[in-house]
Amino acid sequence: MLDALGVDVETEEHVFGGAAIDAHGTALTDETLAACQAADAVLLAAVGGPRWDTTDPHAPRPEQGLLDLRKGLGLFANLRPVRPLPALYDASPLRRERIEGTDLLVVRELTGGIYFGEKTRTDTEASDLCHYTVAEVERIARVAFDAARTRRGAVASVDKANVLETSRQWRQVVHRVHRDDFSDVELQDVLVDNAAMQLVSRPSDFDVIVTENLFGDILSDEAAMLTGSLGMLPSASLGAPDDPGLFEPVHGSAPDIAGTGAANPLAMLLSTALMLHHGLGLPQEAAALESAVDRALEAGLRTRDLGGSATTAEATRGVLDHLTRSTA
Ligand code: IPM
Ligand code: MG
Repeated sequence: MLDALGVDVETEEHVFGGAAIDAHGTALTDETLAACQAADAVLLAAVGGPRWDTTDPHAPRPEQGLLDLRKGLGLFANLRPVRPLPALYDASPLRRERIEGTDLLVVRELTGGIYFGEKTRTDTEASDLCHYTVAEVERIARVAFDAARTRRGAVASVDKANVLETSRQWRQVVHRVHRDDFSDVELQDVLVDNAAMQLVSRPSDFDVIVTENLFGDILSDEAAMLTGSLGMLPSASLGAPDDPGLFEPVHGSAPDIAGTGAANPLAMLLSTALMLHHGLGLPQEAAALESAVDRALEAGLRTRDLGGSATTAEATRGVLDHLTRSTA
């Protein structure tokens, strides 16, 4: 795909997740982390599977590797664009008139909150601490407001301020940042339960949704279904401007269809487009790839998750055909 785009990048492959657990006993080796830190961008495939699923707190888990990688690269901002294509409106579980015009961006805080707070466990109890600093909230709020300025200029900040102390502080900080530096952007607060409802009742009213780590995890899976399939959703995780970003599909490793050739490769290709844009500074090439995906879908390309029968290889070839047609 990169060759077809005329992009000359040097690539290296490193094992990660389940494969790294099998080879080295840990999901993220020091060597893989160092290689990622030294790269311009990291493209990540899905991790995990029943083989490494465990509730034993001492056993290595693939997901832990992902969390360590996010933390190790300082990737605090996770961008998950959700833009159902007209060609796929009928693949969505929601009625066409509900999703028409939906084009939203979930900005998820990625290195704080309950994911990274202290964890305890004894035979009779367990706890996960949700912790945020003002600085963490402030920097993710800025990412969201900046993004809104390049879009329709509206931010919905999602929290649970009627119950959680972290949410009450989140709300205060978001409003301060808004007042001081982004008063041209429209801001509304939405409680997370209400946001979950509005995402299916009137998704097209959202522009940018900014929220903490766990809420963002849940809401982005929900939002993904608006596009008809989790197999369509790419994501970018960004840290400091000069540090490498990480690009990955939102979907998991779908172990139930592993090796059958039924996986939808489009989220991976769209993640590659995000990498070209945000990671390698090649917005034109990114747009060319995104548009090849759009056109392939318009021409009828459907993998099994979208109700069709195209295999992973056929879908990839389909996109490639449209790409070479437009660059020829
Ligand atoms: C995601 C995933 C991860 C998360 C898992 C695999 C740790 O669900 O990227 O949304 O919860 O962040
Ligand atoms: Mg998730």
